[in-house]
Amino acid sequence: GELPPFRNAPTADFAKAENRRAMVEALAQVRGRFGKDYPLLIDGREVMTESRIDSLDPAQQTRVVGRSASADAGHAEAAIAAAKKALKAWSARSPRERADVLLKAAALIRERRFELIAWMVYECGKPWREADGELVEASDFCELYARDMIRIAEPRRRDVPGETNACTPIPRGVVSVIAPWNFPLAISCTMVAGALVAGNTVVYKPSEQSPVVGWHLVKILHEAGVPAGALNYLPGVGEAVGPTLVKHPDVNMVAFTGSRDVGLLVNRLAAETPPGQDHVKRVIAEMGGKNALIIDDDADLDEAVVGVVNAAFGYSGQKCSACSRAIVLDGVYDAFLARLVEAARSVKVGPAEDPETLVGPVIDADSRRKILSYKEVARREGRVVLDTDVAEKAVVGTYVGPMIVADVPPDARVAQEEIFGPLLSVIRARDLDHALEIANGTPYALTGGIYSRSPVNIERARREFLVGNLYINRGNTGAMVDRQPFGGFKLSGIGTKAGGSEYLYEFLIMRSITENT
Ligand code: SER
Repeated sequence: GELPPFRNAPTADFAKAENRRAMVEALAQVRGRFGKDYPLLIDGREVMTESRIDSLDPAQQTRVVGRSASADAGHAEAAIAAAKKALKAWSARSPRERADVLLKAAALIRERRFELIAWMVYECGKPWREADGELVEASDFCELYARDMIRIAEPRRRDVPGETNACTPIPRGVVSVIAPWNFPLAISCTMVAGALVAGNTVVYKPSEQSPVVGWHLVKILHEAGVPAGALNYLPGVGEAVGPTLVKHPDVNMVAFTGSRDVGLLVNRLAAETPPGQDHVKRVIAEMGGKNALIIDDDADLDEAVVGVVNAAFGYSGQKCSACSRAIVLDGVYDAFLARLVEAARSVKVGPAEDPETLVGPVIDADSRRKILSYKEVARREGRVVLDTDVAEKAVVGTYVGPMIVADVPPDARVAQEEIFGPLLSVIRARDLDHALEIANGTPYALTGGIYSRSPVNIERARREFLVGNLYINRGNTGAMVDRQPFGGFKLSGIGTKAGGSEYLYEFLIMRSITENT
């Protein structure tokens, strides 16, 4: 029958005792499963490798959440061959059948809610609420793309007397998916499920920091009905398997989310067209951001403070959408800064398993080192007004205390480079012209926003603040599937919008078929 219209799934209300209890139980169960081995899955076969990736709990680095296999180039070739072999049968399934597989996967994701959240808590240091939002996002992607595929598969007809015309889609072929750790479930799901429902087959490389969450997604998709070879699970180190996944002549498309440098490398390598390759590769890439919230001089400062604190420090600033620049109009600069620092001071830093935590540990020791080195840069470039001490916690986990640095010049490194941590630069703007110039003055264009009560200024921001996702009087993270299709441009990415009605076209080729009758 016909599907009901898409609706975003509800989030879990952790104010309810039963949900808190369920979450605490799930955390304990997942802890009981720490340290297990996770093989590669190639054509449905489990493959153990000699080298392993220890996936650690960033809150307690002595705890191994899981020990994942680590693929090499030969495994990547085998996985690509399996995906190629599986293409014919999977793409021959009707769009409705493939859509039904996604609907089943969405239901499984929701059924296993607390368990999946618990894996994200431990493997990625993601606080409950954020992990729950991510779980809903993954389920929503499946629900939306199922419906979109049915819609897009309907031939677009333009018949005239004596001639029928129809446009219909076919899949691209084998898709390599290279996913990040910061949304280990949702961003993996948008790329993998998007590719699959369109009839492609997939080699999926989860981030080496989050192979266990990736494993669960793959198992769910297989349980929902994706055939073995149509989805191959290939955890590994980027340098070891990435080049094969991108350059192999049997790969038709690469779907990537991650850093700008790696994204640009993927794009360049995919463009090389070796002899024997009979197609030009499609690349979609979602990369970094240096996102700003503008605080106008008539803004509701209570709302602006909450919005900035959450967008800058939620999930420790490790979202490509995170606010890393607050651009504040001169008239409210001092008042806003004082209130911001007060609010940020009371932000709870701790393990993600603690329901009160807003700022968990950052993903790993390398990331911590990098963020700490930016803190040194910040001390030179601006006036540090907050640097939360986490020395005690940092003995066992990769904690970084939130930092706010004020009076930062717009061209300072901390105002230009993506840091991916809880470090916020506050920049003073003379007026709205100046604020917009600063806001647009980076190579990125992902998210941004303005807090203002002035209709004229809001209208100007709509037109002139050039980012992929603009938010007015709202924080600039947490895009919702379908309501706010997500993705940026400039060096933030190729312009693809995950969770939007055009996303699946990236994974499809359109054919026009005319019959003279
Ligand atoms: N989609 C996420 C957000 O909007 C970022 O990847 O925060």
